[in-house]
Amino acid sequence: MSTLQKLSMIVAASENNVIGMKGDMPWRLSEDLKRFKRLTMGHHIIMGRKTFDSIGRLLPGRTTVIVTRQTEFEIEGARIAHSIEDAISICGQDDAPLVTGGAEIYRLALPWVSEIHLTRVHTMLEGDTLLPEIDWTRWELVDRSWHASDEKNSFDYSFETHRRIASPGAQSFIR
Ligand SMILES: NC(=O)c1ccc[n+]([C@@H]2O[C@H](COP(=O)([O-])OP(=O)(O)OC[C@H]3O[C@@H](n4cnc5c(N)ncnc54)[C@H](OP(=O)(O)O)[C@@H]3O)[C@@H](O)[C@H]2O)c1
Repeated sequence: MSTLQKLSMIVAASENNVIGMKGDMPWRLSEDLKRFKRLTMGHHIIMGRKTFDSIGRLLPGRTTVIVTRQTEFEIEGARIAHSIEDAISICGQDDAPLVTGGAEIYRLALPWVSEIHLTRVHTMLEGDTLLPEIDWTRWELVDRSWHASDEKNSFDYSFETHRRIASPGAQSFIR
């Protein structure tokens, strides 16, 4: 029997779509980290090997699926996938797996993603890693909240949730 399942993506991006700089994120947003924890806790998180390297450890309470082309790559306690399709199927019966970046893995996963949790960081800055192009006319904004910067959050930011407007074969994956 095949299972129809949701796949979400979670990402923070500046106004000019920067998501990374020199292997890290170019801001400190404590509330974004809390939101990330809340949405990912108990679920599979799919990430590229470079994003795993930048985090430097497995995140507790989640099953990390690392995507790499390296056939010998192993991390104790993580699942390893050699394609985005393998990564998605490793998520099994999880009802809310998430793609957690970076840019290469967002680009590969986007065709299967039906929901995007975007933190829009309200600044323009330089970076070396960009959010892949997304045709936002095909997505519906279903939730948005704006927040001011403070001592623990370096810029104003908005939490947004976007759902893909139904189009055949695009918003879900079938196993
Ligand atoms: N703002 C955010 O929300 C956010 C979230 C996550 C990450 N980031 C940032 O994004 C940056 C990292 O992103 P990135 O795009 O450079 O790297 P990435 O997507 O994290 O990882 C790239 C790696 O994924 C593997 N890979 C890519 N395509 C593959 C394929 N078709 N099959 C198998 N494996 C494949 C390769 O690993 P191997 O080289 O091992 O083969 C590749 O080097 C960092 O600056 C990080 O801080 C930002």
